This record gives sequence, C-alpha cells and structure tokens, in this order.
Amino acid sequence: MKITMRVGLLVMASLLFACGGKEQKKKGGFSYEKKAKKEVPQEAKPKVEAISTKADFSSKGIGPVKDLKLPDAIDKDLAAKGEETYKKLCAACHKAEQKFIGPAPKGILERRTPEWVMNMIMNPEVMIKEDPIGKKLLAEFNNIPMTNQNVSEEDARAVLEYFRTL
Ligand code: HEC
Repeated sequence: MKITMRVGLLVMASLLFACGGKEQKKKGGFSYEKKAKKEVPQEAKPKVEAISTKADFSSKGIGPVKDLKLPDAIDKDLAAKGEETYKKLCAACHKAEQKFIGPAPKGILERRTPEWVMNMIMNPEVMIKEDPIGKKLLAEFNNIPMTNQNVSEEDARAVLEYFRTL
C-alpha cells in the first residue's frame, strides 16, 4: 500500500513537472523562433549542387551500353512496354514530372546521353559511386541509393523509349 502511494506521488510529481516543462517550452519556443531567424540564415547552409535538372552530356556512364543512336521516330509499342516495366519497378521512387525519392525522368534526354541513362538503369550502384554525374545525383538525393533491379538491356531500352514520350 505504501509503495503504491509512493509510486502515485512519483507519477503526480512527474506530471506536474511535465506541465511546468510545457509552459516553459511555450515561452522558450517563442523567443527561440525569433532567434533562429536571425542566427541561421538559410543561405549559410552548404548547398548541394542540383545536378538533376542540369544538362551534362560529358558522360556515357559506366556499364554495358557504350554506343547508342536513337532513331528520330518514337517506337510506340516499345514505349508502352517500357511504361509497364517502369510502373512495376520504378514508380515507387520516380514521378514523371517532379522530384520524388529520385529525379523526374521527363526530358531526361535533354540532359543526359542515352547511353548514360541506360547504364544508370542497369548499373545504378556503380554509377552512383564512380560516375561523376551519378556521384552528384547521390549527394543531391540525400545519399539514397537507387537500387539495382537487374533490368535487362532490352527492358532498359524500352523504359528509355517510354521516357522519350514524357
Ligand atoms: C529505391 C528507389 C528507386 C527505385 C526503385 C528506382 N530509382 Fe532511379 N533513382 C533513385 C534515386 C534516389 C536516384 C538519384 C541517384 C541516387 O541517389 O542514387 C535515381 C536516379 C535515376 C536516374 C537518373 C536521373 C537523372 O535525372 O539524372 C534514372 C534514369 C533512373 N533513376 C531510372 C530508374 C528506373 C528506370 C527505375 C526502374 C527500373 C528506377 N530508376 C528505380 C531511386 C530509385
């Protein structure tokens, strides 16, 4: 019985303490916000270079695709096949037109060589470690690595064709 009372008192004491803490936080919070604005201007934070929206055709990437010439016309059947693969394996992290877990693929061929895109799809774990653009992308996307899903060259080519339709 005595022990229960003691425990009860302890609980009450800690509740009181918690309430007191809250009030302090309220007051403290107000002045903290004011201070934070003055002391930590956003510009002072080191910025990671946003390579995802910048054109860079200097690399063909690292992987099996060394030379790829795209015909002018888009192959609609191939693109449709690519879209299916994309929905299954890629849409969890990519959205066509906006940054998500990874960059937006829309207009990617205005920024990268086709070989680079294929190698990124097929060999991402090496690309983000060794390719100059891949390394910058990894830094921009908070060091979240794109996973290798063993996409075949045929499927990667189809996804690339789908990207051309975005
Ligand atoms: C687990 C999340 C994830 C999945 C699944 C994923 N990606 Fe990525 N992807 C990323 C991230 C994150 C990056 C940026 C590089 C990095 O941080 O690894 C990226 C980068 C890329 C790039 C380079 C984009 C650019 O604008 O330079 C391409 C192309 C790409 N992914 C295609 C795909 C394709 C195709 C698939 C499906 C086969 C896929 N990704 C699946 C997360 C993912």
